[in-house]
Amino acid sequence: MRILLAGGAGYIGSHTALALLRAGHEVTVIDNFVNSSPEAIRRIENLAGKQVSLIRGDVRKKTDLLPVLKNGGFDGAVHFAGLKSVGESLQKPILYYRNNIDTTLTLLECMEETHLSSIIFSSSATVYGSNNPVPYREDMPRGLCTNPYGTTKSMMEQIFHDAAAANPELSVVLLRYFNPIGADSSGRIGEDPQGIPNNLMPYIAQVAVGRREKLTVFGGDYPTPDGTCQRDYIHVSDLAQGHLKALEYAVSHTGCEIFNLGTGTPYSVLETVRTFEQVSGVKIPYVIGDRREGDLPACWADASKAEKILDWKAERTLEDMCRDAWNWQKNNPMGYETLHKS
Ligand code: NAD
Ligand code: UFG
Repeated sequence: MRILLAGGAGYIGSHTALALLRAGHEVTVIDNFVNSSPEAIRRIENLAGKQVSLIRGDVRKKTDLLPVLKNGGFDGAVHFAGLKSVGESLQKPILYYRNNIDTTLTLLECMEETHLSSIIFSSSATVYGSNNPVPYREDMPRGLCTNPYGTTKSMMEQIFHDAAAANPELSVVLLRYFNPIGADSSGRIGEDPQGIPNNLMPYIAQVAVGRREKLTVFGGDYPTPDGTCQRDYIHVSDLAQGHLKALEYAVSHTGCEIFNLGTGTPYSVLETVRTFEQVSGVKIPYVIGDRREGDLPACWADASKAEKILDWKAERTLEDMCRDAWNWQKNNPMGYETLHKS
């Protein structure tokens, strides 16, 4: 297949690009590098021994995107292009609504004009909101999100539903990611956050490599077995495989389908810290701090629908996730080194 990855230079996009190349597909990436580096693409090409067609462009701009679709001869597209920081979205809501909604609308318009009919969308477990019971199933209603980032995901899901309802040729797969962590086992590509990491695993990895002094565990008094929050961590390479299965599904179906991509097993913050310490042999100093506003005590997937319909199941363990995150971080202590660092 020939696949367009919008935002394909980022963390999940780069691992998906590598998985697609390794499976023999052709990959085009369009990215404006607002949160990524072209170096990731260079490394993917090196690892796969194949070329990626790379376009520096803004997915919001039809003048950037339409020529790519017109000339691409694509079988499908994956829409990763978005801003993803929960905290930043509270500070800069307009930026988040503008970027995330506009990329989606422009992509759908350009797809319609060029008769490209299969699209995979990077959604998030955050759309379940705070009132659904765990584990989350795809047939539960979307809930109210506590931040503009989450609301953009929910709004974009609605846009895709409406677009698919109006166009019987369109095939949309909404993938609700749980907590992607880890890196390709080569240690050549991985997660490279700008500034102070918001997310747990990159923070732990930066403590391990000496870039941060200690981890603050956000809350130790949750109604969970050890008092810290539980999440469904999923290896980014398993997640990437999920996109391959979703693309195969999308090109042979129409309509709009939702799939959770998680392992179905929750781990607490402290279990994750201990596992990282075991596989890396590095002690992670931490303190228990206040709860972070908006955090849910527990969040995990019922992952059975993707297994049944897509024939996809996460294979890698929490040990694998921590080992690969550490392998990436220790080999690239400053990430790709082309982005602004604090
Ligand atoms: P990322 O920031 O590493 O990748 C997003 C990519 O999109 C970046 O390369 C960025 O430069 C690009 N981009 C953003 N706006 C763009 C624009 N207007 N035009 C062109 N390129 C643009 O993030 P990621 O972790 O790889 O996430 C990919 C997608 O998955 C995002 O939509 C994110 O919201 C979603 N998601 C991520 C997680 C997670 O924990 N990482 C969880 C759930 C959902
Ligand atoms: N945590 C800490 N200390 C830190 C960072 C995180 O204790 O320095 C804790 C959080 O409180 C939470 C857990 O680690 O309990 C995981 O936090 P992350 O920030 O890594 O992930 P979240 O579950 O908060 O959110 C992630 C993505 C969102 C996405 C959501 C569901 O960041 O974009 O998963 O997919 F919406």
